[in-house]
Amino acid sequence: ERPWLVVPAAGKGRRMGAERPKQYLPLAGRPVLARTLARLHQAFPDARLCLCLDAEDAHFAPDDVPFADWRRVPGGAERVDSVVNALAAIANDAADGDAVLVHDVARPCVTADDLRRLRAAVAADPVGALLATPVADTMKRDDGAGRVKATEPREGLWHALTPQGFRYGLLRHALAEAARRGVAVTDEASAVEALGHSPRLVSGRRDNLKITHPEDLVLAELILAAQAA
Ligand code: C5P
Repeated sequence: ERPWLVVPAAGKGRRMGAERPKQYLPLAGRPVLARTLARLHQAFPDARLCLCLDAEDAHFAPDDVPFADWRRVPGGAERVDSVVNALAAIANDAADGDAVLVHDVARPCVTADDLRRLRAAVAADPVGALLATPVADTMKRDDGAGRVKATEPREGLWHALTPQGFRYGLLRHALAEAARRGVAVTDEASAVEALGHSPRLVSGRRDNLKITHPEDLVLAELILAAQAA
């Protein structure tokens, strides 16, 4: 079965403080967006891609998209709005039972192996699944005034990564319900959880980092080089 890929790439990347959105900064000689799409294409060459781009995007180059079957959809105000737009755009073509994998454009180091394992977990699970890694640091909660209020047990805590994959019908319903109820949604899983479901955690690689700050680009170059070695 051909998966659907939704790649939100409509962020302005303000935390980078760069002259262009982070998805267009060069990473080992190619834009981050091109690197991320190349990794997705390596794992899922026959996937159908929905790429969310800002309406005023001045840097996008269609040649950076390796997929034969893809469409551009307008980004929304927040990441979740971009994903909602993508799901609406494919409503006539997607069946409720189709697997949809959502992957941040800012995660170019995801490996084909993790992508395939995530897809297999999505196919095998009635709810859906996400890549995640166990928390390694000791976790502190602050008191709101710069002091430690508590140390949170890190056992059982995970970092949520992407991709996150769900059936089209469930994901669309979950995001619509979250919007209706005013549930804050920072990833797809949280919207599905708000319906009472428990997505499966698929242990992924720790080097699937999200490029957010300038030093992340340096790290990502090292990671890509190490993965190629
Ligand atoms: O800024 P942040 O790293 O949290 O963004 C996560 C992903 O969501 C990025 O791939 C970014 O391009 C995307 N995004 C989007 N539409 C927005 C904001 C972010 O597609 N309005």
